Amino acid sequence: ADLPLVLGIETSCDETGVGIVRGEELLVDAIASSVDEHARFGGVVPEVASRAHLEAMVPTLERACTQAGVRLADLDAISVTSGPGLAGALMVGVAAAKSLAVALGVPLYGVNHLASHVAVDIVEHGPLPEPTLALLVSGGHSSLLLVPDVTHDVQSLGSSIDDAAGEAFDKVARVLGLPFPGGPHIDRAAREGDSVAIDFPRGLTSGRDMERHRFDFSFSGLKTAVARWVEARERSGEPVPVGDVAASFQEAVVDVLTRKAVLACRENGVEHLQIGGGVAANSRLRAMAQERCDAAGISLRVPRPGLCTDNGAMVAALGAQMVLKGRAPSELSLPADSSMPV
Ligand code: KG4
Ligand code: ZN
Repeated sequence: ADLPLVLGIETSCDETGVGIVRGEELLVDAIASSVDEHARFGGVVPEVASRAHLEAMVPTLERACTQAGVRLADLDAISVTSGPGLAGALMVGVAAAKSLAVALGVPLYGVNHLASHVAVDIVEHGPLPEPTLALLVSGGHSSLLLVPDVTHDVQSLGSSIDDAAGEAFDKVARVLGLPFPGGPHIDRAAREGDSVAIDFPRGLTSGRDMERHRFDFSFSGLKTAVARWVEARERSGEPVPVGDVAASFQEAVVDVLTRKAVLACRENGVEHLQIGGGVAANSRLRAMAQERCDAAGISLRVPRPGLCTDNGAMVAALGAQMVLKGRAPSELSLPADSSMPV
């Protein structure tokens, strides 16, 4: 029972998350989301997100502690997302974490949001193989990460040069008249559609583009191609086959993501792929990744969907790893760094 009891706070975007982990065991993952308040704007509004975090922070903290049967005085450390993310949103979480750490006299660990998307898999599937290759796909990021040690050595092999994968899902959903956030709606609509009905472009996968951007992604050309295709259909007066467009678009994104992830594993001699971020909830991505990993002899780990989207458990999970691996805590002057690199 000497395992560290760590509370993690996540406020980088629109979810107020508070998770509590003992060692590598998740005790609770409490979350409050302001997503409904952003829906009518078709995207996250930073000012609205910051205010929502301020309102939700204490109730979410209390709920986490109550559900886990944990008293604040029992905590061994506090961890918090210190970047990257929306500046004002991050500040709410960082301020709350500092206050708790000072009041309780326990160490504070500022953690990277991208690294915690990777670390959360530890509370789901146990210790991360070292090295692991991580494909992180969310509304804000699309990155391929080489992870020799999630607590202090995470290297970016490539990332999106324009839209993030989730952003592309959200924009295409908008074109198809589906609600925000669009990912889950595209996923559902695609089940009724034909994924080879329309041949949409796979960005940065061939020729000079591939040479120069081997592990980078580009989804803005795809998004534009979908919008043009739908506009042409509307002009012709024929109905838009929403299922076919959704399935063909999704296939293009998932094809590129899995192809480059498997290639990155091969070229770096890594036998383990982990997928995280909100888009990892996508059913086609999970299926195609499994097929291609099986074919390549790579083991695949994907946390359950609730742990793929932003949450507090991921921050607590990484904080606990920091404690277990004896990493130095952060200073109490810890800043919120909206553009923090991995
Ligand atoms: O990780 P996350 O919750 O927040 C960010 O850090 O961005 O990811 C949210 C993104 C949104 O763009 C949402 O549309 C996408 O994840 N998403 C999905 C699915 N579920 C969520 N995209 C595709 N298929 C899904 N099933
Ligand atoms: Zn995220």
